[in-house]
Amino acid sequence: MIEIIGMTKVYTTGKVNVEALRGIDLKIEKNDFISIMGPSGSGKSTLMNIIGCLDTPTQGEYHLEGMKVAELDPNRLADIRNQKIGFVFQNFNLLPYATAFENVEIPLIFKGDSFKKRKARTEELLEIVGLKDRMDHKPTELSGGEMQRVSIARALACNPSIILADEPTGNLDSVSGAEIIEIFVDLWNKGHTIAIITHDTKISSRTQRIIKLLDGMIVDGGGA
Ligand SMILES: Nc1ncnc2c1ncn2[C@@H]1O[C@H](COP(=O)(O)OP(=O)(O)O)[C@@H](O)[C@H]1O
Ligand SMILES: [Mg+2]
Repeated sequence: MIEIIGMTKVYTTGKVNVEALRGIDLKIEKNDFISIMGPSGSGKSTLMNIIGCLDTPTQGEYHLEGMKVAELDPNRLADIRNQKIGFVFQNFNLLPYATAFENVEIPLIFKGDSFKKRKARTEELLEIVGLKDRMDHKPTELSGGEMQRVSIARALACNPSIILADEPTGNLDSVSGAEIIEIFVDLWNKGHTIAIITHDTKISSRTQRIIKLLDGMIVDGGGA
């Protein structure tokens, strides 16, 4: 489903070049459940941003469901990002003045669904993450774990091919973190493809495969 060949990423800031990725080969198959580990600065977020089409590589090939991502025009790429990829971030990235319902609904508005369809889907998603009774709450009226569950519901809205999570339990207490892990495991059992960046061995030990990054290279767990 995802194939990356010889990928590099060089950031140029002022006079300094940072080689964030130095030759990544990676395959992710449908319904894989992987974790990506490695020290801070090893290139984990860079890799995830490229997989999620939020950023482009300097060199190398990226195939997503048979498409060569580099050849897609910006509009098509935006559609793919909205519909094929679900993001979950450490800081939740929820709109602060919008309710849980409205936060989950946003990708469906971009997709062009009718209000009736959006309402049914949004309620279904909040039910999946166990938050139907918190639908009208704003992020400030939710706990960290609940905010992360809203963001998982939002990530699932367009039924994406892959869910990418960048340290999803990094800001949570261990009890909330454990609940979030169970949600990911459930989603995997339902057939979703999931990649999670984490420092937490309680998460990585539940995944099928652990990819270890060091200095922009995969040092363990690369092949399919
Ligand atoms: N937008 C950017 N501009 C310049 N350098 C960056 C940028 N993003 C990341 N880097 C650098 O690239 C390297 C890898 O960063 P990152 O992918 O965020 O690592 P990780 O997520 O593993 O902590 C680091 O040295 C970081 O400073
Ligand atoms: Mg990071």
